[in-house]
Amino acid sequence: MDIKKGKVAILLSGRGSNFEAIYNNSLKKDSNFQIEIVVSDKKKARGLELAEKFGIENHYIPPRKFETREHYEKHLIQLFEQKNIGLICLAGFMRIITGILIAGFRNRIMNIHPSLLPAFPGLNAQGQAIGYGAKISGCTVHFVDEGMDTGPIILQKDIKVMDNDDEDSLSIRILKEEHILYSKAIQLYFDQKLKIEGRKVTILP
Ligand code: GRF
Repeated sequence: MDIKKGKVAILLSGRGSNFEAIYNNSLKKDSNFQIEIVVSDKKKARGLELAEKFGIENHYIPPRKFETREHYEKHLIQLFEQKNIGLICLAGFMRIITGILIAGFRNRIMNIHPSLLPAFPGLNAQGQAIGYGAKISGCTVHFVDEGMDTGPIILQKDIKVMDNDDEDSLSIRILKEEHILYSKAIQLYFDQKLKIEGRKVTILP
């Protein structure tokens, strides 16, 4: 392993296709990051099986094993600090994280969301876009703050909504772009090209 590469922790709950894409991109010649650890709050997450297959340290850590959510997040912080994690990537992690983890890794936690935020935050963003009759949707990579999908936006990719789209067809096209966009944001982060001032993230040349 290249010790100069930025260390990423992945938090997920399920399918793990974003994790898989980030992993594949991390293997590319010019990548400046590597995935150190994968943590799931769900035992049967496909993402955990993938991590095992890729030979990446992985853990099933259910919050209910801890007295409170704060204890759970303190445990995660400890685990990630031990491993010198530079960036936590939420990749289909179906849990709201609290101020504890956010404060422990301030501006060092990213999330990907399947809409052009601030439109359609929360669950089922693709279905929300279809239901609303939006003509354009997309995906957003953002830093995580205390709100739900409200943190400073890093990158966005727009995707046209077709007249015959349903939630599934739109989700498939958005997901394809998610798999590209997330790694771009991670690469920029470890290149120290992301400057955060309040809500605004500037991409340095
Ligand atoms: C993705 O659509 C992502 O935008 C959202 O959750 C989904 C996770 O999918 N946050 P996967 O587990 O990465 O396949």
